[in-house]
Amino acid sequence: MSLHSAEFGVEGKRAIVTGASQGIGRTIAETLAAGGADVAICSRSQDRVDPVAEGINEDPDAGDCLAVECNVREREEVEAFVEATVEELGGVDILVNNAGGEFVAAFDDISPNGWEAIVDLNLHGTFHCTQVAGQAMREDDEHPGGVVINMSSVNGQHAAPNESHYSASKAAIIRLTETLSVEWADHSIRVNCVAPGLIQTPGVADTLGIDESDMPPRDQVDRRIGHTEDIADVVQFLASPAAAFVNGETYTVKGVPRAGNSMSADLGLQ
Ligand SMILES: NC(=O)c1ccc[n+]([C@@H]2O[C@H](COP(=O)([O-])OP(=O)(O)OC[C@H]3O[C@@H](n4cnc5c(N)ncnc54)[C@H](OP(=O)(O)O)[C@@H]3O)[C@@H](O)[C@H]2O)c1
Repeated sequence: MSLHSAEFGVEGKRAIVTGASQGIGRTIAETLAAGGADVAICSRSQDRVDPVAEGINEDPDAGDCLAVECNVREREEVEAFVEATVEELGGVDILVNNAGGEFVAAFDDISPNGWEAIVDLNLHGTFHCTQVAGQAMREDDEHPGGVVINMSSVNGQHAAPNESHYSASKAAIIRLTETLSVEWADHSIRVNCVAPGLIQTPGVADTLGIDESDMPPRDQVDRRIGHTEDIADVVQFLASPAAAFVNGETYTVKGVPRAGNSMSADLGLQ
């Protein structure tokens, strides 16, 4: 049997995308909605997430978008976000744990608070959202199963000087993905992960000072920085029925970086 393009789609699905006021999360939400999924998005600021929802809701061909203020580090806020999603969209089929961040500092210069903030955001935020949304997926007898997609980084796959807190939290997300893919297989919930290389986003401009005014096009294979769409399209594939036999995997999405083979090399850090 040949593959049908509908198998790569997400039409009619209900998706949560965390950290979607800008950058990769915003493009993932827009991509899934353009594919016909209803999406619930969050960030720490209602004012920042509302315009994204308005843009999606203006498109009559796109799915509906619900915007909620939710800090993924706060368990009660995550519970309220998932509850609102179930109420408004009818359930959760897809969870994209995108919210994340970092600051650049040598290991010796990271304070206990700074370490905790990054691990809390990247790892504990993923834990809270996955546990709460996973329960909603399992309680939905009419729509059994689900998909979780976690956001790691190439810096979770190898040494990342001056990003030890970030690198440790993103490495942990890869092991969490693998473990949960086994634990939740009985519930028909697939758990996969994406590890982006350097992608041009507002976060990268703020944190790393990289702000390309002239982005090479996506069809340039060699030595370029990534577009947010490069990640969103892989996320859509992993969320779709076409990826039915993909479970517990981490997809590295990095093209060929401009210097060497890692994000840190691209930044001149190694
Ligand atoms: N860009 C890259 O090169 C790259 C490479 C590898 C991996 N990644 C990963 O990809 C993900 C997105 O990266 P990005 O570059 O698009 O980031 P970004 O531009 O900094 O955007 C981060 C998003 O997360 C939200 N956010 C931050 N803290 C949050 C919290 N506690 N609760 C809820 N939302 C929160 C932000 O919204 P508010 O500020 O409005 O709360 C924003 O929408 C992250 O997990 C990042 O680690 C990025």
